[in-house]
Amino acid sequence: MPASSTEPSTKVASRQVHVALGERAYDVFIGPGLAANAGVQIKSATGANRCCIVTDGNIEASGHLRRLSDSIVAEMSILGHIVMEPGEATKCFTELHLLSEGMLKLGVERRDVVIALGGGVIGDLTGFAASILRRGVRFVQIPTSLLAQVDSSVGGKTGINTAQGKNLIGAFHQPSLVIADTDTLSSLPDRQLRAGYAEIAKHAVLGDTVYFDWLERNVGAVLAREPGALVHAVARSVEMKAEIVARDETEQGDRMLLNLGHTFGHAFEAWAGFSDKLLHGEAVALGTAIAARFSATLGLCPPQAATRVVAHFKAAGLPTRVAHIASNTAPTVEELLNLMDQDKKVQAGRMTFILLREIGRAFISRDVERDQVRQCLEAEIAGTA
Ligand code: GLY
Repeated sequence: MPASSTEPSTKVASRQVHVALGERAYDVFIGPGLAANAGVQIKSATGANRCCIVTDGNIEASGHLRRLSDSIVAEMSILGHIVMEPGEATKCFTELHLLSEGMLKLGVERRDVVIALGGGVIGDLTGFAASILRRGVRFVQIPTSLLAQVDSSVGGKTGINTAQGKNLIGAFHQPSLVIADTDTLSSLPDRQLRAGYAEIAKHAVLGDTVYFDWLERNVGAVLAREPGALVHAVARSVEMKAEIVARDETEQGDRMLLNLGHTFGHAFEAWAGFSDKLLHGEAVALGTAIAARFSATLGLCPPQAATRVVAHFKAAGLPTRVAHIASNTAPTVEELLNLMDQDKKVQAGRMTFILLREIGRAFISRDVERDQVRQCLEAEIAGTA
């Protein structure tokens, strides 16, 4: 992976990243104030004459829905708005059913475009509904959370959760356009911002040591929402993700690297019931810290590299230990192993882990023995890892 991080300029210009997927290629625009021009961009990227907008109650209340509608209405007709309940629980079969029927009732047809305005939940659910509605309608992502801007809105993974685990029902359905207006992050609660930062740090840890150095120097500026730092961090993460997705759209190989921290993280997230006890980004931070310590314990990466990764997540105010989960109880090893067995990357009963050789050099491992995972989890739960 090329290490092409540069310092952001003091003048905050927008950035454009191309996701090179042939017939399914699209652009991601990143910068302040982009929502004001969204209508023109959506019209030019899709040529659609009609759209429907899906969002959640918080985004509606924040005024983002009204501002987006104002910018779209001059370019195309809006069939209607569908406002979902905020929160991870909305990514479920019941809400998928309601959303799909809602779009049919509005009269959404094949040539129309569905616009997902919101965080990862709205993007994943709306993208999945768009993928199955009339066997597939186009959709546009307008991510409003940091996590969605740097990760979930790019790459076409869509889906819902079930009792068995996260995102186990879904489809690859690429958006036609992504507009990441960094101004929408100004109203994001601090905890959500930090959770999104976990995915930024994950990108650097897995593939770009220069970017990791930059983040170590600029974590404060990104979390203080300094416009230049925010645009640079979002754009570099999107660039890295776009390169990986262009190489491996459907996760047959390299794309698994983006799951650094997720095999452990998803198990903790499912154990916490996909609740406020542990947000997705927090689970990624915890999972990445565990993956780094595990890599060092297995002798795969220098202990100093693991220490540096963990220190960075701590500096961002993110959980790095099981004890940091806001819960009176701790999971058992068996509970976590059972949840990890549901991971989509399990092949012929063998778990896949994304481990580290160094900061910026993650790799895919299917060589880890179950006993080694068990010992890792025992030490993590006991706090002795
Ligand atoms: N969030 C990981 C991926 O999109 O592949």
